[in-house]
Amino acid sequence: MRVLVVGGSGYVAGLFLPALAARHPTRILDRRPPPDGPAEVEYLAGDATDHADLRRASAGMDTVVHCAMGSTAWRTPAGAADAFDVNVKSVHLTLLAARSNGVPHAVYISSMSVYRRLTARRLDESVPPDATDLYGLTKRLGEQVCQAATVRWGMSVNILRLAWPTPDGMWPAWAPDGQPVRRRAAGGSPIDATAASDLSSAVLAALAHRDGCQIFTISGDRSAGLWSTAKAGEVLGWGPTFPRPAPETP
Ligand SMILES: NC(=O)c1ccc[n+]([C@@H]2O[C@H](COP(=O)([O-])OP(=O)(O)OC[C@H]3O[C@@H](n4cnc5c(N)ncnc54)[C@H](O)[C@@H]3O)[C@@H](O)[C@H]2O)c1
Repeated sequence: MRVLVVGGSGYVAGLFLPALAARHPTRILDRRPPPDGPAEVEYLAGDATDHADLRRASAGMDTVVHCAMGSTAWRTPAGAADAFDVNVKSVHLTLLAARSNGVPHAVYISSMSVYRRLTARRLDESVPPDATDLYGLTKRLGEQVCQAATVRWGMSVNILRLAWPTPDGMWPAWAPDGQPVRRRAAGGSPIDATAASDLSSAVLAALAHRDGCQIFTISGDRSAGLWSTAKAGEVLGWGPTFPRPAPETP
């Protein structure tokens, strides 16, 4: 399976690329090269909000993973515009380009941030997303773009709602900037981050499973127990196992 990763040079993609590229020929579209990606990954420089770049990048692919993220300067007008551009418009244009190239399947990297007050309540995929902050709102809209593409274009898309993905060596802390942060539930219980090994097995399973538009909670937490991963277990055969090795995925 040939896989395009849009936004493949970022933090989250870097966590699953080694496992992905070890199994599947992998191409990255990003405006910057991968910092220390596996040598066997093909890199294309381009803009994830540009349809022509996305057409070029998705040509010859079997699946697409959307993992780009727009600006986090959400309080500035320019940052907000970029967040909508990359988190929403780019998702639509990526799926449009994939469809034009006959690519039938995609994985959308979403976030538990589609929920407000996520550390204060039990959640599973049956709870409607309700975030109103700019990041959570754009991730909600990105998910709706995926749902529309499956209805209108007959594609399949798996949406993975990640909870604090982190390098294996940093788990159970979350460490997007290399500095470990232990997240806590509103009641004070620690929440385990999601180890790169578990994220990798979730992405591999989501690449293989094809059934319309499906949403999965991908959380490595087994401490606070707020967010159910039962659906990922039932449908993808996925559950967090780190620090034990994950079972082999198809
Ligand atoms: N960081 C986390 O802890 C976390 C948690 C849950 C979900 N996510 C999701 O993971 C995904 C990736 O996030 P990340 O933390 O890796 O972000 P990141 O900023 O580290 O990486 C994003 C990548 O997208 C690229 N990019 C941005 N705009 C682009 C454009 N216009 N054209 C081409 N490339 C562009 C950047 O160059 C970068 O390499 C996002 O969808 C985010 O919502 C992240």
